[in-house]
Amino acid sequence: MEKRVPIAIGADHGGFELKEEIKPLLEELGFTVIDVGTVSRESVHYPSFAARVARLISSGEVQKGILICGTGIGMSIVANRFPGVRAALCHDLYTAIMSRRHNDANCLALGGRILGKELAKEIVRVWLETPFDGGRHRDRLCMIEELERELGRAHEGE
Ligand code: RB5
Repeated sequence: MEKRVPIAIGADHGGFELKEEIKPLLEELGFTVIDVGTVSRESVHYPSFAARVARLISSGEVQKGILICGTGIGMSIVANRFPGVRAALCHDLYTAIMSRRHNDANCLALGGRILGKELAKEIVRVWLETPFDGGRHRDRLCMIEELERELGRAHEGE
């Protein structure tokens, strides 16, 4: 039997409803969904949920993750603090495609209060289906990794 690839998804109260819409699509596309919460519309703090998904990506436990808050901004700010996480806030199909082709984004941030559910699902679909272009874009990702190492060393020396 074909092994299903795990994908992590997390949301705060501003993204909860969209998260519930997206989960069946992910199953349909052949993923095993790791839902880190939240589990209701009750107000919660988005950094906790962003960190749960970002840790799974950063540790290599999952290759990709999806984060949803009201705007997607808070989620992307938090996720991009984790080494190896490249979170892209996408409000349309073009940014979703380019975030994969040029940035090899491994985390998709969405605004639950911005996107209609059908557009959001289409963004998820194209984001998951679009490959990384590689080539010169890989060199730029290597530069980001070098910056991460440099900043990590500076942090250790504090
Ligand atoms: C919560 O009200 C809201 O601030 C949050 O969902 C998100 O949009 C933050 O960036």
